[in-house]
Amino acid sequence: MKILDSNSSYLTFQWLGTFTLMYTFSDFNNKLTQGSGIGELMHDLGAGLEQARRMNLEISMLGGGNPAHIPAMEKIFQDRWKFLSAQKETLNRTLGDYSSPQGFLEFRERLANYLSKHLSYPLKASNLAITQGSQSAFFMLLNSFAGSIAKEGKFQKILLPLVPEYIGYTDQGIQEGIFKSLLPIVRTTSKNRFVYEIDFAKLEACLKKESIGAICLSRPTNPSGNLIPSEHMNRLLSISRKFNVPLIVDNAYGYPFPNITFDHSKLDWEPGMIQVLSLSKLGLPGLRTGIIVAEEEIATRISEMSSILNLAPGNVGSLFVEDWLENDLISEFSNDIIKPFYFQKSQFALQQIDKHLGSKIDYSIHESLGALFLWLYFPNHRYTSRQIYEKLKARGVFVISGENFFPGLEEDFSHRKQCIRLTYSRNNEEVIRGIKILAEELNL
Ligand SMILES: Cc1ncc(COP(=O)(O)O)c(C=O)c1O
Repeated sequence: MKILDSNSSYLTFQWLGTFTLMYTFSDFNNKLTQGSGIGELMHDLGAGLEQARRMNLEISMLGGGNPAHIPAMEKIFQDRWKFLSAQKETLNRTLGDYSSPQGFLEFRERLANYLSKHLSYPLKASNLAITQGSQSAFFMLLNSFAGSIAKEGKFQKILLPLVPEYIGYTDQGIQEGIFKSLLPIVRTTSKNRFVYEIDFAKLEACLKKESIGAICLSRPTNPSGNLIPSEHMNRLLSISRKFNVPLIVDNAYGYPFPNITFDHSKLDWEPGMIQVLSLSKLGLPGLRTGIIVAEEEIATRISEMSSILNLAPGNVGSLFVEDWLENDLISEFSNDIIKPFYFQKSQFALQQIDKHLGSKIDYSIHESLGALFLWLYFPNHRYTSRQIYEKLKARGVFVISGENFFPGLEEDFSHRKQCIRLTYSRNNEEVIRGIKILAEELNL
């Protein structure tokens, strides 16, 4: 039997009651096992879902970040799998050999050609590092720029120029307190709609006052569906250069692939910027492939860290997409299949919310400009976001409670306690059911 006492750093094992072992876990282990928003999310996806099934609850999984199973893309994946399984030599090399810790050189060369065209900068293979999914890329990047700098006797933080921001960053610091985040400007755009904007005056003031190692944001933003406009991105880059810190842009949903964006999305790469891409939201999260686009020294440092953590990244993701780079098929799939699919889903979910929440409930939704999520704000409601989350979960509807998306925020902000994130990529019936139950619970 295994007993985990969450208040202590000891894990006690008892086997058949005959003897007890006490292990002492490190600060690193305790920091990463103390419970996290991302852990709760993954738990809901697995155990929570299982429990709801056992209770015979009908389920609406509007919580996770799993990409949709788009039939046209699944057919493409199946055909590709079939084709590759007949390529004996390539397959043997891919499955039987480690790549370099930075990823196969040939793949990085082809990817560099593709990205040079799309990101308007002459990138080389040495600017790229392939990782085990972009989540692990962020673990390496965030801890590379945040934490103690012993020789200077200081502690650097990652500046999130605007929150809410991706739940998956929250607990990634090896040390505590690696984030400093800024309140956004909230601009009402129309009835029941708003958008978050970066407060540049606060941003500059913060950079002057605090010890910041990097600026980081997701674009499109998980959870809000925001897409920071290009002119604001340019401004961010010039400010980050002025303060000599890199600008990390999380492109998991962005340009050039999977390009789940409903507005002008193109973003060039320039020195001073680190872009992080992923194959996951193309529909391939199982391949665990992330891509870092950065200055050579950063890509090399990531590769050195990768060799310690993973030896090398997995090869299957690279093999799977490499032929789609030269002929631009990966952009075609993104623009012609994936983007329209999610746009239609987003419009559908918005209509359903307006229909069912209607005039009875005070609500506002962040403009849906990309990614897979809607971010709903319930000002003045007597339930907090956590209470809404619990009430919905009890009825088999899974959403994510908003408070997890504000790492490093010191100020009070009503949105922290009164927002939920809802994934709209599931089938229409699940979405309608989830939204109807949400309306019922809020009206109770
Ligand atoms: C904004 C954002 N960044 C990074 C990730 C990590 O994705 P992956 O590790 O599958 O590449 C996700 C996953 O949902 C995400 O939403």
